[in-house]
Formats: sequence, C-alpha cells, structure tokens
Amino acid sequence: MKLRVVLVGPPGAGKGTQAQFLSAQFDIVQISTGDIFRANVGNGTKLGLEAKKYMDVGDLVPDSVTIAMVNDRLAEDDVRHGFLLDGFPRNVEQAAALDGLLEELGSGLDAVLEMQVDNDEIVRRLAGRRTCHGCGQIWHVDYDPTKVEGVCDTCGGELYQREDDQPATIRRRLEVYDEQTSPLVSYYAERGLLVALSATGDVEGVTARAIEALKRATG
Ligand code: AP5
Repeated sequence: MKLRVVLVGPPGAGKGTQAQFLSAQFDIVQISTGDIFRANVGNGTKLGLEAKKYMDVGDLVPDSVTIAMVNDRLAEDDVRHGFLLDGFPRNVEQAAALDGLLEELGSGLDAVLEMQVDNDEIVRRLAGRRTCHGCGQIWHVDYDPTKVEGVCDTCGGELYQREDDQPATIRRRLEVYDEQTSPLVSYYAERGLLVALSATGDVEGVTARAIEALKRATG
C-alpha cells in the first residue's frame, strides 16, 4: 500500500520507535527531521552547526532551514512509494509549506497519526532513552533494556544519551510542543486527516493499534 503519513506527538511519545515498525509494515521510507539534524551535527556540517544551536536548548530550528531540507528529501526517488514523516511538520507554517510541496509533487497526505501520552510518562521515557551510535536503534533502560548495559543488541554499537534529554531541555521541548506543534491537531482535524492514537501501554500494543488505525483511515 502506498501511504503518505505524518506522525505528530510530544517529545518521547514514541514517534521514532513506532516509525521504525510502521515504515517496515507499510514498506515506506521513514523521514525524521530530528535524525537528519543529528546526523549533520555528528558530521559537523554547516547545517549541523546551525541546527545544534537550537536543538541544545530545545527550540525549533528555523523554518527556512527545515523546510528547505525537507523539500530536498521529498525530491528523492524513494519517496514516490510513500513516506512516513516523523517530527515534521512542527508548526502551522511548516504544515502549510508541506501542503505546497506535496501539491507540486501531485499528491497529498493520507493520514496524520497523533500519538497521545501524558507528561509524567514522557519524562520517564526521555530520561531512560538510549540510542545506538551504530544503527540508530532506540532503547530504554527500564522499558526496553539491552542485554548488556550500554551495548546495542542489534549491532553491538555503543549506546548514548541524547544531549537534549536533560531535564531543563525536556521542559523547554514540552513547552514548544504545546505552543507551536499542538495547533497542528486542529489543523489536520479540519482537513479530515487526523487519527488519534493512545500511545501508552507496551510498544507492541501501540504498534498493533497504529497499524489498525492507519488501515481503517486509509482503507
Ligand atoms: P526530534 O528528534 O524530532 O525529537 P522529538 O520530537 O522531541 O521526539 P523524540 O525523538 O524525543 O521522541 P519520540 O517521540 O521519537 O520518542 P522515542 O520513540 O525516541 O527533534 C529533536 C530536535 O530537533 C527538536 O527539539 C528541534 O530542535 C529539532 N527539530 C526536529 N524536527 C524539527 C522541525 N520539523 N522543525 C524544527 N526543528 C526540528 O521514544 C522515547 C523513549 O521511550 C525511548 O527510550 C523508547 O524506547 C521509549 N518508548 C517508546 N514507546 C514506548 C512505549 N510504548 N512504552 C514504553 N517505552 C516506550
């Protein structure tokens, strides 16, 4: 099935975790603006140096930078078979820009999955998150621990804690979500695209409900 889907949800809702399963299930590419920024930070590119200033304090990278980056990514060939956007759009300006980019490509979105989790759970998830340097797999020290502490079960790579998962930065990211990103819920509801999903409970259960909800919405 060719699907064009956006995942919306607060930091730590499980967007990256679910994006890995959903992109495999529907055979579509996962595009995470956060992952693209982090790869650029890691490689010390000009884009990475610019993005880091904002990411380190939990603010959004300016729209001009982000939209240009997504524009380039959506021009690549693999996107023609469908895509799952994780972390974009992040405000109404980016959503309007995405509408324009997709119109130029002669397509539109099929669904926007809103992942709902309460704030206490978000803080627990982010505080315990660990990510693999090697393959990018996401783990959690309590909810999804590796067999050997600090070592990825999938590829043997070293795990790290994201710099923006410090308490003050988490608080700022939650504020930014409430102020700038949550208006997207009504933006997409008005367009008949919104699919609300409870993202609490175990990962497998959330994946099963997400697949079911997407099939029903796009069926
Ligand atoms: P980004 O990387 O997009 O971060 P985010 O939206 O804050 O989301 P996270 O990646 O923190 O969480 P997630 O929902 O993916 O949760 P995860 O699956 O990891 O953005 C980072 C920064 O980049 C932004 O602050 C901004 O500066 C910049 N940026 C990115 N996009 C931008 C844009 N469009 N415009 C401007 N700036 C942008 O799960 C979290 C933890 O919970 C993991 O440990 C996981 O194992 C665990 N977990 C997941 N699901 C469950 C479950 N069901 N039960 C128990 N544990 C679970």
